[in-house]
Amino acid sequence: MAVIKCAIQLNIPDTVDLKTPITLSQLCTTLKCDPCFLYRIMRFLTHRNIFKQIRIPSSEESDPLYAYAHTPLSRLLMKQGEQSMAALLLLESSPVMLAPWQNLSERVVAEGRASFEKAHGKDVWSYAEENAEHSQLINEAMACDARRTVRVMLEECKEAFEGVTSVVDVGGGNGTAMTLLRKACPWITCINFDTPHVIAAAPNSSHAIQHVPGDMFLAVPKADAAFLMWVLHDWGDEECIQILKTCKEAIPHKNGRVIIAEAVIEEEGFKDKLKDVGLMLDMVMMAHTNIGKERTLKEWEYLITQAGFSTFTLKNINSLKSIIIAFP
Ligand SMILES: C[S@@+](CC[C@H](N)C(=O)[O-])C[C@H]1O[C@@H](n2cnc3c(N)ncnc32)[C@H](O)[C@@H]1O
Repeated sequence: MAVIKCAIQLNIPDTVDLKTPITLSQLCTTLKCDPCFLYRIMRFLTHRNIFKQIRIPSSEESDPLYAYAHTPLSRLLMKQGEQSMAALLLLESSPVMLAPWQNLSERVVAEGRASFEKAHGKDVWSYAEENAEHSQLINEAMACDARRTVRVMLEECKEAFEGVTSVVDVGGGNGTAMTLLRKACPWITCINFDTPHVIAAAPNSSHAIQHVPGDMFLAVPKADAAFLMWVLHDWGDEECIQILKTCKEAIPHKNGRVIIAEAVIEEEGFKDKLKDVGLMLDMVMMAHTNIGKERTLKEWEYLITQAGFSTFTLKNINSLKSIIIAFP
C-alpha cells in the first residue's frame, strides 16, 4: 500500500501515457525523480502487474531499452477518470486510517476499546466532523467507489428502481450516487441525505439533486425508495435496526422499498472469488468503526426482519456489493 501511495503521490499513473509506453528516463525527467530509486519502484510495480514493462528495439542489443505501459490495475490508480480508485487508496493509506491498525488487538480483547477511538479519542464520524480535510478524503474515497457500483447496479439490477419516482440516499456522502442515478433516470427525484457537515461541503452546482442534512437515527426525508450503500456495515446490529426502521418510516407502506448495497459474506465452505476482499473489508470495519462489520446472508435477514420488513430479495452483481431490496 505504501508503494502504491508513493506512485499516486508522484503522479506516475497519470504520467504514463495510455497509448505510448514511456521510458524510465522520460518518466524521471517529467517527474523530476532519481532514476535508481524510480527504477526500483517500477520494478516492484511491474512485478505485481501494476504497469507492464515493454522491451523497445534498440541498436545496442547488450543494453536493451525498456518502457512502461498501463495495465488494468495501474489505470485504477489514475487520479482522473471514471475508473479511478486513487482517492480510496489515499484514504486507507492516510496516517489517520493507518493509526488504528497499530492497536487492533485493543478491539479484540474482552471489554476492549475501538481501535480508531484508542488512536484518535473519538469515533471516525466525530473525527471527520472536526477535521474538514479528513472528511473530504472520506467523501472523495466513497465517491470513487460509488461511481463504479452505481454503474454496475444500473446495468445489472435496474429493476431495483422500477416504478420508483423518488429516492433518498441515506448517508449518501457528497451526492455522487444520486447525481449518477439522476443522470441515468432523469424522471426520478433524487435526494442526498447526510450529516450537516458533509452536506455543507457537498458540491451542488447542477441542482439536479436535493441535498438534505440530518441524522439517519432520527428521521430521513420521505421518498418511494431509501438507498443505503456502505452505511449499515459501519454499525452494530442495534444501530442498523434503528436506521432501517427510520428508512421504513420514510417510504410508502405499499410499493415502498429499501435498497441496500453491501457485501454479503458467504458462509463456511463456499468459495466466492470476492470472499477474500469481503473478509479484508471486515478487518477494515474492525479497525475503523466501533462495532461495524461485514455480514452473512443470515445476519442480513436478521436485521431486516427485526426492523419489521415483511420480505426481501437479494441479487449478486459484478461487484463486492450485492443488492438487497427490503419491502415493508
Ligand atoms: C461509508 S460512507 C458511505 C457513503 C456513500 N453511501 C457511498 O457508499 O459512497 C458512510 C456515510 O454515512 C454518513 N453518516 C454517518 N453517520 C450519519 C448519520 N447519523 N446520519 C446520516 N449520515 C450519516 C457519513 O457521513 C458517510 O457519508
